[in-house]
Amino acid sequence: MIRIYKEKDYEAMSRRAANVIAAEIIRKPDCVLGLATGTSPLGLYSELATLNAEGRVDFAGVTTYNLDEYYPIDPANDQSYRYFMNKNLFNNVNVDMDKTHVLFGQAPDWKAECAQYDAEIEALGGIDLQLLGIGVDGHIGFNEPAEVLDPLTHLTDLTEDTIRANSRFFESEADVPRHALTMGIGSILSARRIMLIATGEAKAKAIATVLSGKLTTACPASMLNLHSDVTILCDRAAVSLCDEATIAALS
Ligand code: F6R
Repeated sequence: MIRIYKEKDYEAMSRRAANVIAAEIIRKPDCVLGLATGTSPLGLYSELATLNAEGRVDFAGVTTYNLDEYYPIDPANDQSYRYFMNKNLFNNVNVDMDKTHVLFGQAPDWKAECAQYDAEIEALGGIDLQLLGIGVDGHIGFNEPAEVLDPLTHLTDLTEDTIRANSRFFESEADVPRHALTMGIGSILSARRIMLIATGEAKAKAIATVLSGKLTTACPASMLNLHSDVTILCDRAAVSLCDEATIAALS
């Protein structure tokens, strides 16, 4: 079941998303969070750092697993998702670094790395709250539109669209890694709760497809309709292709 809440802008969405995560940590101080990178969560990560500095949320017992990482990439590279997470969240809150997990972009055996990631999450009892962004093409994690989707953590090829979109962070398009390690659709759907954040008109088509309630591998995020507890937080632009009645029914 998907619920959607429309906020007036990015800041309001980020505040609300940070409050959802903070509430989860307060409810369960040793919770396991699934985290995302990208532009969408920057505001919420900075809100969480503020809440942590104010003593309103304590990350000491929290464990985190990130959705994805480029492959191959050195974690010290400033374009790696490990670097992103350290810079934008982990270094700014009192999380125990040993409890933060990002797929290792230099794993010599990617299959073993993926299998171990899934096994570790399972051994911990699963992810309590999974944060997601959404790609313009409806991808979640690096699960891109395709004829078939992978259930578990795996190595994937990035599509030309994603390489182009991500090239804004690299010196040139040629520098963008062509592969990534990512949790699969099944890994994502195994989380107890899922929160997806989306802002801007570019996401409107993907959000409209998700809210149609149908499943299609052409929009991997549509698979969220299989889950019993999904919250979408967005701004007005991201739902500009959805009618008010649909939004009202799901709010
Ligand atoms: C990032 C991730 C991606 C992004 C998506 C949206 O870890 O898994 O699926 O969430 O590409 O990215 P932004 O937020 O930059 O629009």
